[in-house]
Amino acid sequence: MIKKFKDINDLSKYAADSFIEIANQSIAERGRFLVSLAGGNTPMRLYQMLGDFYKDKLDWTRAHFFWGDERCVPIDDAGNNYGQAKKVLFDKIGATNIHRVLSELAPAEAAQNYAQTLKRFADNQFEFPRFDLVLLGMGDDGHTASLFPNSPINAVLPALAVTANYQDRPANRVTLTQNVFNSSRNVLFLVSGKAKAVTLSRVLSDIYVPEELPAQRIKPIDGKLIWLVDEEAGSLL
Ligand code: 6PG
Repeated sequence: MIKKFKDINDLSKYAADSFIEIANQSIAERGRFLVSLAGGNTPMRLYQMLGDFYKDKLDWTRAHFFWGDERCVPIDDAGNNYGQAKKVLFDKIGATNIHRVLSELAPAEAAQNYAQTLKRFADNQFEFPRFDLVLLGMGDDGHTASLFPNSPINAVLPALAVTANYQDRPANRVTLTQNVFNSSRNVLFLVSGKAKAVTLSRVLSDIYVPEELPAQRIKPIDGKLIWLVDEEAGSLL
C-alpha cells in the first residue's frame, strides 16, 4: 500500500499516529511494543513529533527500541542513529528499554553482540523477535537499512557487519537482515524528497531486481507493508 502526503510534516504526523496506534495495540495484546527504528534524516521529524507531542499517548516504559541499522561511530557523532534519536526522542519521553547497537565496537563484534540482544527477545521459531513495527528509509540508490545494492540477498544471520560508501556517511555499519524485517507485523517505509523519485518508481514497479534495489527485498510474510511518501518522492508514481 502506498500513501502520498503533501510534505514531510504531513507524512510524519501520519507516521506518528500510526506508531502510537500500533504501539498501544501491541501493548494491549502482548504487554509490550517492539519497534525497530530507521536511521538517516527522513524519520527525524517523526521522532521529534513523538518526543514533543506524544509523550502522554503511550506507556513508554513498555516500548522496546531497536535499530534496523547503525553506523559504527561514537554515540555523540552526528552520524550515530541512536545518538540522533536520543536527543529528540528518548531524552524527552524518558524511554527505559533501549537496545542499541554497541557502535563503539568494531562492526563484526557489534553485529555479534546485537544478534545476542535480538535472541533475548526471540518469541518465535527464529533467533530474533517478531517486531510489532519496523521503520525503514530508502537511499537514492535503493538501499534500505544497511542492505546495499549487490549485498547478499540470502543472509541467514539476523545481524551483519557491512561496509558501504554512501554520500558522506559513516561507512562501517551493522544491519539487520531481510528475514528479520520480513517477519515483522508492520513495516512503514518513510520516503521524502525529489532525489528519491526515480528510484522509488523503480522499487515500486513490477520489475523485481532485489540485488540492485534492496528495498524490494522487504516483503513481510505475514505483516503489513505501507509506503509513506511525500509529493516530491512520489512524483513519478
Ligand atoms: C542509515 C539508514 C538508511 C537510510 C537511508 C535514507 O542509517 O543510513 O537507516 O537506510 O534510511 O539512507 O536516508 P535519508 O532518510 O537520510 O535519506
